[in-house]
Amino acid sequence: MASLRLGDIAPDFEQESSEGRIRFHDWLGDSWGVLFSHPADFTPVCTTELGLTAKLKDQFARRGVKVIALSVDPAESHTRWIADINDTQGTSVDFPIIADADRKVSELYDLIHPNASSTLTVRSLFVIDPGKKVRLIITYPASTGRNFDEILRVIDSLQLTDKHSVATPGNWKDGDEVVIVPSLQDPELIAQKFPKGYRAVRPYLRLTPQPNR
Ligand code: BEZ
Repeated sequence: MASLRLGDIAPDFEQESSEGRIRFHDWLGDSWGVLFSHPADFTPVCTTELGLTAKLKDQFARRGVKVIALSVDPAESHTRWIADINDTQGTSVDFPIIADADRKVSELYDLIHPNASSTLTVRSLFVIDPGKKVRLIITYPASTGRNFDEILRVIDSLQLTDKHSVATPGNWKDGDEVVIVPSLQDPELIAQKFPKGYRAVRPYLRLTPQPNR
């Protein structure tokens, strides 16, 4: 399968997991989703990433996001690994890990990059919206753990910019000023959408307080 691109429908699949068989789209329901891959079970960086994700449970729940991990080992290995993660990271992993031993999902999501490794999946992460569209794709090398604060930050931006005619500047975080999208030019509409006003640094760079604050 060709690489997934932003805006594509996240491929559906049925696969085993640490919590039994999962039909992905049914499992997502109307929620946002994060699907993220791991090179292998019982590896150090992955262990820290899964522990971090478990600790961020409330943060994902507050944003209406369901989380699912993937590794190419079988479910019984995932079960033993989860016990280890909980033990070493002081967490309770309560999200499923897909057991992609036959590489079905890895192929659908283009998770094996043969020039990096012919067997291990790369560290990719997909944010999927309630319409099942892929909204963020990041791919990290096996040796670099991901920054989960950044994942939450992007989800905040996606959820905000879906509702308001704004975009979020570089290094933006929830509560900071946002930019008014360049396509919005009607002064009446601008006044209606942004009653707190805005400042135009340039005609194309208009900053306004975060509208949902
Ligand atoms: C890890 O998750 O720790 C890892 C996996 C593969 C290569 C290097 C590190």
